[in-house]
Amino acid sequence: MGYVIAMAGKGGTGKTTIAALLVRIMKEKKLGSILAIDADPNSNLGEALGIEVKESLGEILDDIGSHPEKVPVSMSKDRFIEYRVQSAIAEAEGFDLLVMGKPEGPGCYCYVNNVLRGIMTKLINDYDYVVIDNEAGLEHLSRRTTRTADALVLVTDATAVGLRSAKRISDLAHKLDIKIKREVTIINKATGEGSIPQDKEIEKISLKGGSLMDLNEDAVSISTLRQIGEKIWHQN
Ligand SMILES: Nc1ncnc2c1ncn2[C@@H]1O[C@H](COP(=O)(O)OP(=O)(O)OP(=O)(O)O)[C@@H](O)[C@H]1O
Ligand SMILES: [Mg+2]
Repeated sequence: MGYVIAMAGKGGTGKTTIAALLVRIMKEKKLGSILAIDADPNSNLGEALGIEVKESLGEILDDIGSHPEKVPVSMSKDRFIEYRVQSAIAEAEGFDLLVMGKPEGPGCYCYVNNVLRGIMTKLINDYDYVVIDNEAGLEHLSRRTTRTADALVLVTDATAVGLRSAKRISDLAHKLDIKIKREVTIINKATGEGSIPQDKEIEKISLKGGSLMDLNEDAVSISTLRQIGEKIWHQN
């Protein structure tokens, strides 16, 4: 019931890549229903997962916030917002995807925002697993989604700066009062325990803007993550 895996780490370390690979592995293992959430406003998790998204939550916020007349007379406003969120969820084989985006409009849309928070909580509990790809840093960690994380996955490179940054993010998460049950640090593009190696196959896919669903199943990154990922998705 809503086991939340949240990605964090500094820019460009591999959060989106590892989030997509996790979704792929968990789907292949048939662990249960999966909702992937792209909580990075410069979103590209959809591309990594090879699925097209129609609308982001930000766009829905903008639309309903600035056009309240769009709420059909036959429906309550809350019900309408819920309906719009449901239809924004992209369905793929073995997982769904929701893109948070960012409202562009000038208003605060407080009402819609509050309703959304409730819908997100409900939605998260509708799935067995929720994988949230966040934007770099943690100051921006989407409060709408990441208030609890069963597993916080800290992605870093092997540099001292990277590792310090992962530690800082972890400290901040606790300060922000995000309830974290487990933390797993992954050193990406590196060798050694807890690491995922630099993978030529990922580079090739990344160059042409392809999906990691097409990554060769024996590729070194995915086979390594299959082994170390147990610590992330295993529920106790
Ligand atoms: N193990 C790997 N081997 C080779 N390339 C990788 C690996 N992991 C990630 N990359 C590449 O590194 C780049 C950054 O990865 P990614 O976009 O996943 O990072 P991110 O942390 O999500 O970045 P951002 O902070 O911008 O959201 C991408 O081009 C990706 O293809
Ligand atoms: Mg990313």
